[in-house]
Amino acid sequence: MKNKVNLLFEEINQFATENSEALEQFRIRFLGRKGLLQDLFEEFKTLSNDQKKEVGQLLNQLKNAAQDKINQLKESVEGSASSEQADIDLTKPVMFREAGTRHPINLVRNEIIRIFARLGFTVSEGPEIEDDWHNFSALNFPPEHPARDMQDTFFIEKDPDIALRTHTSSVQIRTMETTKPPIRAIFPGRVYRNEAISARAHCFFHQVEGLYIDKNVSFADLRQTLLYFAKEMFAADTQIRLRPSYFPFTEPSAEMDISCNLCGGKGCGFCKYTGWVEILGCGMVDPNVLENCGIDSKVYSGFAFGMGIERTTNLKYQVKDLRMFSENDIRFLRQFESSF
Ligand code: PHE
Repeated sequence: MKNKVNLLFEEINQFATENSEALEQFRIRFLGRKGLLQDLFEEFKTLSNDQKKEVGQLLNQLKNAAQDKINQLKESVEGSASSEQADIDLTKPVMFREAGTRHPINLVRNEIIRIFARLGFTVSEGPEIEDDWHNFSALNFPPEHPARDMQDTFFIEKDPDIALRTHTSSVQIRTMETTKPPIRAIFPGRVYRNEAISARAHCFFHQVEGLYIDKNVSFADLRQTLLYFAKEMFAADTQIRLRPSYFPFTEPSAEMDISCNLCGGKGCGFCKYTGWVEILGCGMVDPNVLENCGIDSKVYSGFAFGMGIERTTNLKYQVKDLRMFSENDIRFLRQFESSF
């Protein structure tokens, strides 16, 4: 037994740590309820009285040695914990968390909103899931009319009356149904068409619709409003051109081009050497549409226009592939952060 005790003395003497976990293990091993000293005192009970005297002393010394060691190491363990704290360098730069950037579609949408706000246009939104009335019928698309095929529609299978809106013109109807003229508002939003996805087409994209209803609104007002927009959005010397077109809900209807902002109208690859690039559809609101919304078409007239935000963004930044807008590639998205 003496030998065993001597070995333990040695172990205690040699033990060293700065780790509080290791020190606690050491304490449990020697002084714990099922520790070595407990075992030794049990064994001690079986000794003869002569031996007890000597070994008892030894065991007490061993116990004290273990306790002393623990007390002594405790100080240095605590010291090292507090010196770890002292090591914190408050002058170090903090970990930098990068902020995201605004999406180019949102940047251009916000710019469109700002430009029309300067002309007194307010902003409204409508639902992306629409009924036939607001997306088609009230906009003067008769049932079975081939014009419905101009826009490949996602219908809800169980209910042909419900579809994903194909254009933001539905918000024209919702606004005219609930607001008395004069109305001067724009409607930004996402629209859906059942088209094969390619560099030039997607099954969803974004539009901004505009609507101006008042007494004596003329085609000249339409032209001047859109010319102002084009100059503000692109460049002060931008020209516009209106080509006759067809939409069921406007009469007359037009397609608007702007002078190519890459070559200034001289002709280049971007404008296919025409000097012009298409930007939006527009026209005078068809009297039938006004009547469908309870507005007296003999008293009021107005104009409407609708533009694709992706298209406008492409004209501004020459993005070659529409799919880039929805791929979440931050190498692409980051390039727009400081352009406005
Ligand atoms: N809604 C039409 C489209 O999506 C655009 C448009 C809006 C045309 C308003 C005329 C007036 O193609």
